[in-house]
Amino acid sequence: MQKESKLTVGLGARAYDIHVGRGLIGRADDILGDMLADRHVVIINDAAVAPLHLPALKAACERACRRVDSLTVPSGEASKSMPALATLLEDILALGVDRDVVLVALGGGVIGDLAGFAAASLLRGVDFIQVPTTLLAQVDSSVGGKTGVNAAAGKNLIGAFHQPRAVLADMASLDTLADRELRAGYAEVVKYGLLGDAAFFEWLEANGTGVMARDDAALAHAVTTSCQAKARIVEADEREAGQRALLNLGHTFAHALEAVCGYDGTLLHGEAVGTGMALAYDLASALQLCTGQDRGRVHAHLAGCGLVTRLADSPAADASNDQLIDIMRRDKKARRGQMRFVVPRGIGNSFVSDDVPEETLRTVLDDSR
Ligand code: GLY
Repeated sequence: MQKESKLTVGLGARAYDIHVGRGLIGRADDILGDMLADRHVVIINDAAVAPLHLPALKAACERACRRVDSLTVPSGEASKSMPALATLLEDILALGVDRDVVLVALGGGVIGDLAGFAAASLLRGVDFIQVPTTLLAQVDSSVGGKTGVNAAAGKNLIGAFHQPRAVLADMASLDTLADRELRAGYAEVVKYGLLGDAAFFEWLEANGTGVMARDDAALAHAVTTSCQAKARIVEADEREAGQRALLNLGHTFAHALEAVCGYDGTLLHGEAVGTGMALAYDLASALQLCTGQDRGRVHAHLAGCGLVTRLADSPAADASNDQLIDIMRRDKKARRGQMRFVVPRGIGNSFVSDDVPEETLRTVLDDSR
């Protein structure tokens, strides 16, 4: 049995713990202690997660809380919208909550982002706890306080920074996760090695198949190391004024690929990030910032884990360079129409660049087809 770990995101008065271990959902009352004692908890979940984990979480909360309610929103990206947020907020208010309420986000990234934004805006801000049930949410979206919904103009364009009071990453919730979702989440794990931790990437090269095969110890090490990396970055740059932007390695490409595919499940975010990181190494190699050997290692590892590394094999393959570049120019990270990329200087070292020549970018996209 793997041991539990507790990491702290050191943000002064807003510091919180990330708990990683097996069976945490059913012991939420013990783990969260005073945070739940005598509180009114509203668990926000989706229809896919509710039958799997809601009864255990509800039972644990009922042992500690004054009152426990749950609200189920439809599964899928469509719930990360202003109409869904408005419905959710009205439903929460209809329960007669006051500022003592604690919202608990039980689910993947959509639920975490939606419930987090609801917590940021309800009664001008209430406590919330993240209980991420996908690998992607455990290693990325549940940590760091980015919350929000999508707009017609693009993904995550409406939102707020609102840190959770705690994160419970229950490894048991990954047992029922579809292989495709696990693989997509794995891309975000690889990201931490590539952007700043060469030793972790080496560990992934040796142990990635164990992680993908859901070996308990390997998976827990991957989640813990990723959360640790994210915690350090968020502590240093909570509002993304600098270093936090490195977490967007591969994301300028990824957001364009996702946008042309239409957010309907054809291409998952993590799958797009996998291809985006491969393209980021293609770009760095074309700019002579990283060696062909490093680029080859990254491609080999991602492909070996079943992630798509070439545009030719992506569901976004039919998009033209003009189409993709137009979306990249309108990306949230762009400034004054200048595309912004996280560019690797090899494995474990990256920086943000606003001056990637468009001609090089076009060559990279062409060569990936
Ligand atoms: N997912 C990127 C960040 O939290 O900054």
